[in-house]
Amino acid sequence: MIKNAVVPVAGLGTRLLPATKSQPKEMLPVAKKPIVQYVVEELAGSGVQEILFVTGRGKDAIENHFDHDPNLLALLSATGKEDLIDELAFENLNTRFLYTRQSVQRGLGDAILCAEPFVAHAPFIVALGDSIIGLQERSTVCARMSEVLERHQAAAVIAVEPTSREQVSLYGVVKPETDGDIFAISDLVEKPTPEDAPSNLTIVGRYVFEPVIFDMIRRLKPDRHLEIGLTEAIRMLCETGHRVMGMKLQPCEPRYDIGNYPSYFETFVEFALADPKYGPRLRERLAGMLAAEED
Ligand code: G1P
Repeated sequence: MIKNAVVPVAGLGTRLLPATKSQPKEMLPVAKKPIVQYVVEELAGSGVQEILFVTGRGKDAIENHFDHDPNLLALLSATGKEDLIDELAFENLNTRFLYTRQSVQRGLGDAILCAEPFVAHAPFIVALGDSIIGLQERSTVCARMSEVLERHQAAAVIAVEPTSREQVSLYGVVKPETDGDIFAISDLVEKPTPEDAPSNLTIVGRYVFEPVIFDMIRRLKPDRHLEIGLTEAIRMLCETGHRVMGMKLQPCEPRYDIGNYPSYFETFVEFALADPKYGPRLRERLAGMLAAEED
């Protein structure tokens, strides 16, 4: 089982302005919890013991969220609000948090390179801080990918999902060698046009890597935006004869992308509707609103 995970959260989140002007996009709420809390709970459920956040300027709120706050606990007890203490149970996850900074925005590949001293020589998970996997059940995709890495002696395993042709240009897209839920990947393209996409299988923001990925990142030259992409580094793994595997998400673990407003709005409503306490009332209210619109 892989013990270390890297969660890159340095991105500026400009696609979600103005909400992200002075707060990290990873701290935007989806129903009751900030997005990044879902990611951390998923990783903890997959057996991860240490999480390194690769942060940047203005991301302090993430660090504060996962820190213990004894004053808040004391206040809740003293004022008889014990029920609210349950809302802070995530503070007791069996996970250690570490933080490092990517001072200059040089792309996702460069952010992962910041984690090299942390992971040392062991395989590690990468989970993007703006994607939630699964609604009702906590996804175990990272644990399953770790097994595939070992079983196939691969250098990387990438989680993917089928996406409509119009949406492929928002994501990295893989070229599978075979059909099936687990397959070898021969090539990858970052944000292709629908015509150039090698398949409809898009990268969902969960990866498992052997440390050889760092060598690939170091060998890459920055692109025209002066960024070093992670997809390009994985592509170089394929080109240099390393085994790269893909794994499809299961139907019970849909992927929620919070990186743009249409998807963020839909995700919020879906999670709010699934809230056991407040969901039923929202459902009624929404039905009323939609019926009134039709009249
Ligand atoms: C990044 C990756 C992309 C992946 C996506 C998943 O893109 O580069 O390959 O499909 O995350 O969310 P970004 O959303 O940072 O532009």
